[in-house]
Amino acid sequence: MSFFQPGPRCAARRKGGIGARMPDNLLLKRDGTRFCVTTPIYYVNDVPHVGHAYTTVAADCLARYKRLKGDEVLFVTGADEHGQKVEKAAKAAGKTPQEFVDGIVARFKDLWTKLNISYDDFVRTTEDRHKKAVTHLWNTINEKGDIYLGAYEDWYCTPCENFLTETQLVNGKCPDCGRIVERLKETSYFFKLSAYGEKILAHIEANPDFIQPVSKRNEITSFLKTGLRDLSVSRTSFSWGIPVPGDPKHVLYVWFDALTNYLTATGYPENNGFWPADVHIIGKDILRFHAVYWPAFLLSADVALPKKIFAHGWWTVEGRKMSKSKGNVVDPNAVIDKYGVDQFRYFLLREVPFGLDGDFSIKALEGRINGDLANDLGNLVSRTVSMIEKYRGGEAGLAINGFDGAMEKDIQGRFGAPDIIYGQFMENLQFHHALDGVWIKIRLLNAYVDKSAPWVLAKNKDEAALSNVLYTLAEGLRIIAVYLYPFMPSSAEKIWDALGVEGCIEDVKFDEAVKWGGLKPGAKVKKTAPLFPRLS
Ligand code: ME8
Repeated sequence: MSFFQPGPRCAARRKGGIGARMPDNLLLKRDGTRFCVTTPIYYVNDVPHVGHAYTTVAADCLARYKRLKGDEVLFVTGADEHGQKVEKAAKAAGKTPQEFVDGIVARFKDLWTKLNISYDDFVRTTEDRHKKAVTHLWNTINEKGDIYLGAYEDWYCTPCENFLTETQLVNGKCPDCGRIVERLKETSYFFKLSAYGEKILAHIEANPDFIQPVSKRNEITSFLKTGLRDLSVSRTSFSWGIPVPGDPKHVLYVWFDALTNYLTATGYPENNGFWPADVHIIGKDILRFHAVYWPAFLLSADVALPKKIFAHGWWTVEGRKMSKSKGNVVDPNAVIDKYGVDQFRYFLLREVPFGLDGDFSIKALEGRINGDLANDLGNLVSRTVSMIEKYRGGEAGLAINGFDGAMEKDIQGRFGAPDIIYGQFMENLQFHHALDGVWIKIRLLNAYVDKSAPWVLAKNKDEAALSNVLYTLAEGLRIIAVYLYPFMPSSAEKIWDALGVEGCIEDVKFDEAVKWGGLKPGAKVKKTAPLFPRLS
């Protein structure tokens, strides 16, 4: 299985496929820094939808960027396989929970392959290494004296796997998903969450970037200021889970189990060098679990806290909340089959500022494809390649004849130095701003084609000027391909190949590759099929 649709140059490196990168990564001691990015591990009670794809594409974009920057990257995703919700879904499907989750996990992995997700590790909570990590974390917290046996009675929302007080209910229903809640009464182990509110607040104050965006940080600080109740962390009402060490009548609360996946991936109780994680990317729906419960467990166990938690917004679909009952759940597979993988990836990261809510509409998707992708980018690539073929027999990198006009100097100036702003946007997960900047460059080159009119230069036999224009276009596009690679890896590689650039784009060193002048004489362009066919 291969996660990337490589061009001929990258094909050899890609034999291992997903997950095969991990040992490589860890053995390869590069000079760069280590960087660990995670997605939530998704519930496998149902097949993946656009929300799952969104978080995972964002994490992939960041991981790919960091690899180009020379970092050793550990990009982790996975599956949250335990809990009542999965147990119920398995029963309804007439399968054992394990058979059931194996089937759904395969669907997730297939989608990640199709979406070119370059994850390094996939944690399944049914794996032994995970059970070992969870058991160790529990024992450590227990030895600290932060776990006690008590009795529990409260409202419980099974779809959200969340306890609720009477006052949190809205019209007697779950405030998050609006569904019916059940009264649960059981003996349960409790974690002394109430002892950690102040400490988490102090951590947030000392580390203003810990929770992003700012609006989400404010939500969490207000919540913490209201005071925390101890948290029930075991169940006896169902059995599909990890047994509580020393008391197997209880299984672990699914969030205690699930959150620990981040440590599992870093080898806990050992540390493979990637903990603390640099960023947990999550949806806003599960911020409280990540920004309150998780830090509290870690503080109790004396484990370092993740450096950043970034909560992105939610997609509605054609203006309405996405839900199974409304029948409007977007299947990423169908979108990719109809529109293409990079079209989908681009839309997700360009349409909505990361951190805000957005609307998934076919009109908006098609608008982006016809406008930004077909008209602006695709057109520029095909114009450039065909002019180089027509006027220069395919040689893009003909030496410049020491003739740089004002327009070329201007373009070189704007492309010249490594783009610091792009880097800052990527570091801050402001993907739409990073893309905006790239599109300014694409439009600049399109305007340059019109202004420099290579066909007139050819007619007038102004060979030096013509060479310069064609070189400027090809070189500008080469740099654009590097900027686009984290977002649209297979299209970036196609541009790379079309320009006849040596090597595999995923192997470039970002800072070098975005410097002007990388296209070498002798590079031969190749005509390609239109990158982004226009939709009629
Ligand atoms: O919560 N728009 O798993 P999950 C955007 N297993 N993103 C969305 C979305 C939407 N409409 N709907 C879902 C779980 N998401 C737990 C996580 S982690 C230790 C355990 C995304 O399958 C978003 O990232 O319900 C959200 O956080 C995730 O799907 C929840 O996936």
